[in-house]
Amino acid sequence: MKISSKPGPLTAPLPAVMVTCGDMEDSNIITVAWTGIINSHPPMTYISVRPERKSHGMILESGEFVINLTTAELLRAMDFSGVRSGRDTDKFSQLSLTREAADTVSAPMIAESPVNIECKVTEVRRFPSHDMFIAEITAVHVDDRYVDEKGAYDYGAMDLVAFSHGKYYRLRPQESGFFGFSVMKPKTAKKRRAKKKK
Ligand SMILES: Cc1cc2nc3c(=O)[nH]c(=O)nc-3n(C[C@H](O)[C@H](O)[C@H](O)COP(=O)(O)O)c2cc1C
Repeated sequence: MKISSKPGPLTAPLPAVMVTCGDMEDSNIITVAWTGIINSHPPMTYISVRPERKSHGMILESGEFVINLTTAELLRAMDFSGVRSGRDTDKFSQLSLTREAADTVSAPMIAESPVNIECKVTEVRRFPSHDMFIAEITAVHVDDRYVDEKGAYDYGAMDLVAFSHGKYYRLRPQESGFFGFSVMKPKTAKKRRAKKKK
């Protein structure tokens, strides 16, 4: 039996990312769970931010931000960035995080995060509670500890964190499948098994 309830944003798990904005001198960090991918080519993403957040005004003004993925090591910093406003705290200093210059935007990246995604806003869509900043991804950076010799990314090893209905969960390195595995041909499965054994 399932209990029906009033409609709510129950999709899970969501990424809880640390979004940086501003510039190298005057920057801020906001935790955002309302985010995702909206197009592949060109790569496009969005973040939905309430107008009352300090970051909202900063992103509206600059038209730029960086999405920094959260690891288990960054979990406390991510939570803190989501419960304290940049109006009262310099979150970078308070959390001893390192600003790193980005390539295509003025907003700093968080050096301690393994993946930084530079974004330029192309459109702002206003909704009753949040404004949706639709953006083009203009550059990405992945810590070389998680890139193999063929250039493949090892997201499993990053120990990323997910957000599900108010709680955080670690995505421990426990690969449970891969894109398209449910329809993989037996021949391909055999090849993969042989490759793994090597
Ligand atoms: C896990 C988590 C997810 C959050 N997701 C969002 C979000 O998607 N959009 C938003 O506007 N605020 C979100 N918040 C709240 C902001 O991060 C929070 O209000 C923050 O203090 C705003 O900082 P600022 O005033 O420095 O911009 C989230 C907070 C947490 C802890």
